[in-house]
Amino acid sequence: MIAGNKYLLKKDNLITFDSVSLRTLLEGSKTPLMVLLENKIRDNIQTFNKIFNSVFGNYQGFYSFKANFLPEVCRIIQSEGIGAEIVGIPELNLALRLGYSSDKIIAGGPYLPDEFIEKCVINEVREIIIYNINDIKRVNEISEKYGKSQNLCLRINSQKFGSKLGIILDAKTLSKLKKLLQDCENVCLKTILSHRATQMNNFEQFRINLENVAQAYNQLGNSGIKIENINLGGGFPEAVVIPEKQLKKIALNLKEHMELLEINVNQIYFEPGRYFVGDAGIFLTEIIKITDDRWIFLNIGNNICPKFARCSLRFYNASKIDASHKFKTSIAGIIPTDQDILVKDYFFTQSLDEGDIIIITNVGAYTLTFSNRFPYSLPPIILVSGTNVKKIFDPIIDRDFSLQ
Ligand SMILES: Cc1ncc(COP(=O)(O)O)c(C=O)c1O
Repeated sequence: MIAGNKYLLKKDNLITFDSVSLRTLLEGSKTPLMVLLENKIRDNIQTFNKIFNSVFGNYQGFYSFKANFLPEVCRIIQSEGIGAEIVGIPELNLALRLGYSSDKIIAGGPYLPDEFIEKCVINEVREIIIYNINDIKRVNEISEKYGKSQNLCLRINSQKFGSKLGIILDAKTLSKLKKLLQDCENVCLKTILSHRATQMNNFEQFRINLENVAQAYNQLGNSGIKIENINLGGGFPEAVVIPEKQLKKIALNLKEHMELLEINVNQIYFEPGRYFVGDAGIFLTEIIKITDDRWIFLNIGNNICPKFARCSLRFYNASKIDASHKFKTSIAGIIPTDQDILVKDYFFTQSLDEGDIIIITNVGAYTLTFSNRFPYSLPPIILVSGTNVKKIFDPIIDRDFSLQ
């Protein structure tokens, strides 16, 4: 296996992506190329569901569209029965178009323009997620206008140092919230959400997040506001990075800790993004320049593989896959700035040649969504499933993968 990914194998110098050889993928295609592995996405969801369904009888999963909103990716995830967590109108339109039932859509974020609230209310999404307490009144007014009753979820500030997202439940805010919920007859607060961080691979970070939710749950309860569900957000690493056993341990510890904290809820939601799609994405790129001090330059960079995405990047020299990867090499990108560094002192092959094909793994989450408009052509994107190869994005025809 390459990068611990069972859909990315090497055997006798031959590299395969699911059941398609690297050579086949590159026939008639130039690098850079992005490959998405459908069966890896499906495996990841099934593993997550298996664990969380077995530990919690009342688990609900909502895929965080912002991790990768390519329609084909969201369609695969929908077909596995997962709901959608979305932040704006373009994602909402996509979720509805792909057939996500409104009861499986939770929608909202730091920016709730009226049109977004209206669209959520009219389509009766399961919950609107509130980051700013003043938005409750606006949701209420719009719900009233359409004769609807809208369920809400409150995003609680994670209390992680420096976090400005979500609501801090101090005494003043609590009493304001209580009054708002009494006055606003067309909304009903059902759920509280706390999402702490990305790439959390031990229970400790999940425990802190759960305790934060428990504190809010108790504060609200003591103010007479009964919360029905909790949402612990996402934050899981790529599936190849966190072993199944470790994920199960986190789920079991969470369950045990919930009992200890006496949180009794109807449902517990999770909103994974990276775990479902992170390791299903791979870039195929090539070396375009080598310096004497072992810097190699690839034909992609932070324009499409941005640091912001916080991926667990792994690099392999596919042209010399059987050579040991143990010689320190630094890898730079295509943007004409010295800041475009993909990695420093990475263990790589001793021999390096221009034109060597380089595989970068774990790039399925947040690379496309955090990509920028540096004026290079976007890479084509290929979906591989078994022996099937489908070009799902062609920059010449489709021009851009942004959502409208
Ligand atoms: C509220 C919320 N839920 C879920 C996610 C998805 O996180 P991840 O992809 O790390 O699972 C994020 C990511 O920032 C988030 O802010």
